Amino acid sequence: MIRLWSFLVLCLVVRADIYEDIDKLFLNSGDETAPECSGVQGDLPRGCYECYLCNDSRLRNYHTPNHKIIHLTDHSCTTTDLCCVPQEDLIPRNGGQCGVMVPGGFKVVKGKKQKKTNARSVLKGEYPWRAWIYRRDDYRPLCAGTIVEDNVDFVLTSATCVHNYIGTDLIVSFSRDRNEEIDVEAIKVHESYRSKTPSINDIALLKLNKTRERTPRWVKPVCYHNLPPMHATTCTIIADSDHFINPVVPLPEKCKIGNKDLHVSQICAIAPPGDYDPETGAGLFCPDSLRTGDSNFYINGIALEQHESITIYTKVSHFAGWIDQEISQGFND
Ligand SMILES: *[C@@H]1O[C@H](CO)[C@@H](O)[C@H](O)[C@H]1NC(C)=O
Ligand SMILES: *[C@@H]1O[C@H](CO)[C@@H](O)[C@H](O)[C@H]1NC(C)=O
Repeated sequence: MIRLWSFLVLCLVVRADIYEDIDKLFLNSGDETAPECSGVQGDLPRGCYECYLCNDSRLRNYHTPNHKIIHLTDHSCTTTDLCCVPQEDLIPRNGGQCGVMVPGGFKVVKGKKQKKTNARSVLKGEYPWRAWIYRRDDYRPLCAGTIVEDNVDFVLTSATCVHNYIGTDLIVSFSRDRNEEIDVEAIKVHESYRSKTPSINDIALLKLNKTRERTPRWVKPVCYHNLPPMHATTCTIIADSDHFINPVVPLPEKCKIGNKDLHVSQICAIAPPGDYDPETGAGLFCPDSLRTGDSNFYINGIALEQHESITIYTKVSHFAGWIDQEISQGFND
């Protein structure tokens, strides 16, 4: 176990659930002092890896053709293979055509040239995955949301915003003026969300019903994946004033609110206080610092609450598996 542990610690980002698998393997192993067989075989080149049991369907999400295999052997000399993939080869969960910003957005909206009001203002279409959620009878947005899937059928948002509604109560628009509205077919609030403890597991998906209206062609998804942003990553969030801000992701221990650590379902980012009002449900968009050379944006947070310079977000990477599953099953589980 000690050898195994020191091996896995070589890379700090190993999926949490693999530890469970490893724990199961070593559950009955009593004595930890150099048993006959126990150990790890197999070499991985330097770098960071994600390891899974080799039959794990998540391996299909990676474009590495030959997964590196390591063998874990327990005290009864039973061997289990783990397949490991270099993190550089992670492809975004949603295929690759995601998270591409359109600098300058639309040149023309409703016959009028779009102009930036100042250097930090964002034009319509510039981040083509932004969405807003409305109650049918209200022209003020209930919350912001983000398109996360290739067919642009699903909107990610905060559970607190939508848990009191059913799909037919709501519509989604891709501009804050409630133009081009799309019906909502269904709402999926995360099973672990509790309205008594909002901000914890505060994540929901909306499925769109495009029977009446189609999504505008320019709407594109942002990427998401299961890696949290590295600390010191500079991200982007767009305020309700349509100005963009660049908060920075600090070390998790800097995120304490009143001496309390963040919940595992949360991350925080820091921006100068008073700089902006986060729209609840809006995405925190970050580049992937491990994939230098691509400039795709990943949604790493869903804005929840602000405490002076610290904004708390739902940690989207923590829910990547849940998002995959809900999207692939269309909420039928
Ligand atoms: C994968 O293999 C493990 C052990 O070999 C088994 O317990 C598990 O059920 C398998 N999972 C799937 C999805 O086939
Ligand atoms: C989608 O909307 C159409 C018309 O607005 C409606 O007839 C249909 O039942 C809806 N589909 C689902 C699956 O909700």
